[in-house]
Amino acid sequence: IGRSVYFFESVTSTQKVAKEYAMNGAKHGTLIVADEQTEGRGRMVRKWYSPKGTGIWASFILRPDIQIQHAPQLTLLSAVAVVQAIKKVTHITPEIKWPNDILISGRKVCGILTELQAEEDRIQSVILGIGINVNQDKNDFSAEIIKKATSLKIELGKTVNRSSLIQSLCYYIEQLLHLYISEGFTPIKSLWETYAVSIGKRISARTVKGTFDGVALGINNEGVLLLKQDNGDIVEIISADIDFA
Ligand code: BTN
Repeated sequence: IGRSVYFFESVTSTQKVAKEYAMNGAKHGTLIVADEQTEGRGRMVRKWYSPKGTGIWASFILRPDIQIQHAPQLTLLSAVAVVQAIKKVTHITPEIKWPNDILISGRKVCGILTELQAEEDRIQSVILGIGINVNQDKNDFSAEIIKKATSLKIELGKTVNRSSLIQSLCYYIEQLLHLYISEGFTPIKSLWETYAVSIGKRISARTVKGTFDGVALGINNEGVLLLKQDNGDIVEIISADIDFA
């Protein structure tokens, strides 16, 4: 992972660039990274604020030999990799909020966006987009965003070296992919669960089918969140925004 790296000073979105590279045959592990994104994208067609020189705006092209329905497992795997990389470089252990937000002191420090390119039911490539707020100061965030977001610098009180963090990220993604290929999702799932904050808590999951309230029980083998409603029914949450009750 990260043996071929393409660095850009400014792009619309590394996801977009990575998709083009993937279509032109870029190898597994190719990394697209930019100093600034002018049209950074988050999940659910939201914008991802990606100012120059402060964050890690990166997209990895992966070509895993897995079935398409297992693709969400890669999002969870990468959340674990981000936690381990941040822990290694800053000695702070962030928490994971299902499915893919990385939090420090309850505020979002990193978001992950996984997009698939598939033909029939074969995966052509997975574009794994990772945005980490690294060296922003408090006043770099708008009043609205600072309520929910933070950066490593704000939490640590000092600047963090972005190259060390990217290197560490490549290392952990590679290690975890090896573990995943050799032993399956079970060891990844238990790592994920050790870092997850939502498990055992009362949450509110906003989905396209409406809002579901209940206790988050954990995730299943496909990375689906299991929510126990007050009437005892267990619902499977595939995609949602989670609020803590
Ligand atoms: C989210 O939490 O909504 C996901 C945010 C993902 C942001 C990253 S930054 C690098 C890559 N390029 C993008 O446009 N988005 C992802």
